[in-house]
Amino acid sequence: MNFIKKLLVLTLLWCASVNVLLASGLPITPYPNNVVLGSGNLNLKSSISLKLQSATFAEEADLFREQVKRFSSFKVKPTKKSNAVISLTEKVGLGEEAYQLVINESGIKVSASTKVGMFNGLQSLLQLLIASENNQLTCCEIEDAPRYPWRGLMLDESRHFFGEIEVKLLIDMMAIHKLNKFHWHLTDSKGWRLEIKQYPKLTTVGATGNQTDPNAKPRFYTQKQIKEVVAYAAKRHIEVIPEIDMPGHASAAARAYPEINGGGSKSHPDFTFHPGKELTFEFLTNVLKEVATLFPSKLIHIGGDEVHFGNHQWKTFPEVKALMKKNNWKSLVDVEHYFLNRMADTLKVMNKTVLGWDEVIGAGLNKNNTAVMWWRHDKKQLLANALKKGYTTIMCPRIPLYFDFVQHDSHTDGRRWGGFASIDKVYAFPNKEMTGDIDADNKLIKGIQANIWTEVIHTNARMEFMTFPRIAALAEAGWTKDQNKNWDEFNARLPQLLQFYQAENIAVFDPLNPNSKPEIKGPAKK
Ligand code: ACM
Repeated sequence: MNFIKKLLVLTLLWCASVNVLLASGLPITPYPNNVVLGSGNLNLKSSISLKLQSATFAEEADLFREQVKRFSSFKVKPTKKSNAVISLTEKVGLGEEAYQLVINESGIKVSASTKVGMFNGLQSLLQLLIASENNQLTCCEIEDAPRYPWRGLMLDESRHFFGEIEVKLLIDMMAIHKLNKFHWHLTDSKGWRLEIKQYPKLTTVGATGNQTDPNAKPRFYTQKQIKEVVAYAAKRHIEVIPEIDMPGHASAAARAYPEINGGGSKSHPDFTFHPGKELTFEFLTNVLKEVATLFPSKLIHIGGDEVHFGNHQWKTFPEVKALMKKNNWKSLVDVEHYFLNRMADTLKVMNKTVLGWDEVIGAGLNKNNTAVMWWRHDKKQLLANALKKGYTTIMCPRIPLYFDFVQHDSHTDGRRWGGFASIDKVYAFPNKEMTGDIDADNKLIKGIQANIWTEVIHTNARMEFMTFPRIAALAEAGWTKDQNKNWDEFNARLPQLLQFYQAENIAVFDPLNPNSKPEIKGPAKK
């Protein structure tokens, strides 16, 4: 063999061994934190029996049966017999979200000490069943628990509205990937999307229009629909956190109720709530009272971002002038902080905790009753400041966790800001290049979240294209510890995941073949 041939053979052998290596992991995303692979296989029939050793997990078992029927070629049948293939057992001492999954040649045992732990174990098993070839599962022992308790996804339905069916699909996919916080951005300048019974014009006038068409017919969620989505998510151990953005991003509310309009700027007209009128605080308190009854979450997000886009008129209002004089405030930032403090007090009375964008760090809010979302990736010191001040913090920096940023250099539709948000960057988060010099396992850091802003996402198909498969990288970044993350193995699992999403009629981007098809820009597929 001449040298070139030898090199070729060696290269081929190397590639084959890498493939074997890549294929050796289990098809579970996010990848579990402790996996021991066995040598044999479990052979399954298409109908699999399941026994509940503890009634505690009845709801998780019911959901699992539904999911297996919908997403795989198997069926799960409950049984009381002791020779069931799957058995679900309670095991004290495992952590809040932890589970054990053992597969040997005679059956499958899933153990947890909590309902959410069992749910997590069943999502791993579900993924194994979806990916099963020849009705076989590889024998293995998994002991797993997440890196972060907060693994979130935010959807902006103000700029464009996607609807209950699409939201439930997102929740289905979040559940499978063990993402557990759905942050619902329901109010902003382009539309108010949440029925508030006391203020009906919010969903007639306020819900009219979107980013593309200011005259689009009103789109919003009724309170009944909200309750349905919250219950649907809760069944999947996903907490839904509403956002009512204030004192900025308020144009839709100001359109509906001009008496609480705090003015805006040329580029952001009628952008704020009026901070000098008691009527404003009465209005928002009433709104939040209804919100609090709809969402069982302890947290309500009150925004607090980008107020400077449109608070210029505040200084012209006699009520604001009087407030500033009385309190010896020098700038409108003091007025903004006053506003946030009043709303924080309101939430405290309701036994709710404030969640806010990183602008709230400077407002002096009580650290025991406030959590912060760090979003300004170009201001890493804000993350350090939030931690220094003792705030519970969630990391969602624009790059790489804003999913309206383009995901491939060849893409033309979407945001860029110096860089963009490629899937490998999502996967690699958090790292010091992106967070600055903080300890990403600081106990105050509850986790990570991706945000789907929708100024430039007009259709359901495009929203999916921007979200899938980055959602899988997000899930692994939030769940799997650094030492267990493996970019090559993640890539080896991707084709199967893409197939799974496509089978659910989801419009995906294929990062392994980025130019294989045109970028999906619309029109709406549903
Ligand atoms: C934000 O992106 N304005 C939080």
